[in-house]
Amino acid sequence: MKVLIATEKPFAKVAVDGIRKEIESAGYELVLLEKYTEKQQLLDAVKGVNALIVRSDIIDNEVIEAADSLKIIVRAGAGYDNIDLESATQHGVCVMNTPGQNSNAVAELVFGLLVMMVRGFYEGKPGIELKGKKLGIHAFGNVGKNVARIAKGFGMDVYAYDAFCPAEDIEKAGVKPVASVKELYETCHIVSLHVPATPQTKKVVNYELLSCMPQGALLINTARKDVIDEEGLLRFMEEHADFRYITDIMPSNHEVLMANFKGRYFSTPKKMGAQTAEANINAGLAAASQIVGYLEKGDECFRVNK
Ligand code: 3PG
Repeated sequence: MKVLIATEKPFAKVAVDGIRKEIESAGYELVLLEKYTEKQQLLDAVKGVNALIVRSDIIDNEVIEAADSLKIIVRAGAGYDNIDLESATQHGVCVMNTPGQNSNAVAELVFGLLVMMVRGFYEGKPGIELKGKKLGIHAFGNVGKNVARIAKGFGMDVYAYDAFCPAEDIEKAGVKPVASVKELYETCHIVSLHVPATPQTKKVVNYELLSCMPQGALLINTARKDVIDEEGLLRFMEEHADFRYITDIMPSNHEVLMANFKGRYFSTPKKMGAQTAEANINAGLAAASQIVGYLEKGDECFRVNK
């Protein structure tokens, strides 16, 4: 069996070494395609491989068609909106993710970025503290729960909304549930987005929702680009000089935001949330062991396509 790691944004070496150990002890071969710049490199690399480990790499129908021996794709991470599930199913390919494995890394980055923004990028002017501020967690999954845990350490007043998580479960985590997305945005000065990208969540954060936020509000997005209505955000930022936006997923209109909203807009140049050695090891090793489990025993844990 041949396993390919195809990562435009590579794992830490220690994670690759761990994956190699797991794959080779099952008697399989590991091949690597890192930092590729052209889709053709991916199309060539997938030929003849039986299993594929990816991150946010786009695995569309063309890639799946080119992968003539493929049995399984594991997205080493949480969101699998980069994989054409329908095509995978049609080609008899199992798709899995590794939920929870990189969520602490993403949650820690939320606070790294937040502190940087509220302290004015450390340029010498007085900023504000997070203690006592109302933080709204939009979607209470693995990352949202870690954000809540860390926020409590900062002494923040933590609220959450999740359409699929019962209010009792939010309360059990020591967080205040609210009844609607609107209520979350009305209540909190800072909202942290953790919504997965699905057809239902496309552009859910729009001008109207942002308009519910109190004066001096801040939105942080370490989830996905698609959940933001970028035109609505731009308009809102133009009209509200007190509003700040931080993102770990560069928007399409990044240059415009940079030029117009210096000091109240920041984007990482590349998605950095899950880019820690620990998250790479956790997600990479989980991916490798899920591949071996599937190929050896047909174990379909964490399968996301039917
Ligand atoms: C995820 O969905 O797991 C995160 O967004 C991390 O994505 P990455 O592996 O591309 O950094």
